[in-house]
Amino acid sequence: MIPSPARRALRVVRSCGRGVLSSSTRPARRALCRGGAAWLALIPTPLRRALDLDGSPVRPLRVELGGGPFPTPGYIHVDHDSRSRHLEYRADVWDLPFTEGEVEEILAVHVLEHVHPARLAETLGEWRRVLRPGGAVQVHVPNGPAVFESFRSGTTATKWALMNPLFGYGSGPEAATPGQVADIRTEPDHCVVYDFSLLESVLRDAGFAEIEDLTRLVSDRHTLAWGEIVDRMSLVVRARRPE
Ligand SMILES: C[S@@+](CC[C@H](N)C(=O)[O-])C[C@H]1O[C@@H](n2cnc3c(N)ncnc32)[C@H](O)[C@@H]1O
Repeated sequence: MIPSPARRALRVVRSCGRGVLSSSTRPARRALCRGGAAWLALIPTPLRRALDLDGSPVRPLRVELGGGPFPTPGYIHVDHDSRSRHLEYRADVWDLPFTEGEVEEILAVHVLEHVHPARLAETLGEWRRVLRPGGAVQVHVPNGPAVFESFRSGTTATKWALMNPLFGYGSGPEAATPGQVADIRTEPDHCVVYDFSLLESVLRDAGFAEIEDLTRLVSDRHTLAWGEIVDRMSLVVRARRPE
């Protein structure tokens, strides 16, 4: 469904409130993920959930970057947007709050396409730095070839819907006209389109190895949501920091 202006305004008010709430509860959430804050168990579960204070210790350290409104359970979450759900650390993906080799696994779902090419080496170098030798990174990005094929063969409505994975307007597969894709204040924020060989090359240049294409094996919410018009919306690639 396309949001009306009133619905959009309500969403903005809610998400500002969420930003304030998230900054005040972040220290407790961080402590919980790191195995502390046992006192949180005294808070009734529905209230803990409402405050994003549910969850359990994350050991070994698994980190999700750019979870935004859709954090994956079982990870510590890092995002630069303070309105993100379950946010433990507010930081940019090129400046992570972890020591060298401290992280077992990094998950980054639809984030890397937001990183400017000029910051790419710095960003992937930072991911490699915080991973332990042998640790894995799993990257999901819009699947360039699948999006292009859908654009090539699609209807006018499909072409408009695909403006989001191409440019980053934040709209969904149901957006079928220019007005439904975005209003004039929406800044598109995708910086790079990837296929496997391009993603493989930037990961290899950053010092990653054992780079695998898992696109046909791993589905995420984007693959499912766009399934009717794009065959595998998410390109999914896994790589390791060499031992
Ligand atoms: C398209 S959303 C993806 C959200 C979620 N992972 C999903 O799959 O639906 C991109 C997320 O990356 C975050 N992000 C973009 N650039 C970032 C940066 N430089 N540092 C940290 N987070 C960033 C945004 O705030 C947003 O939450």
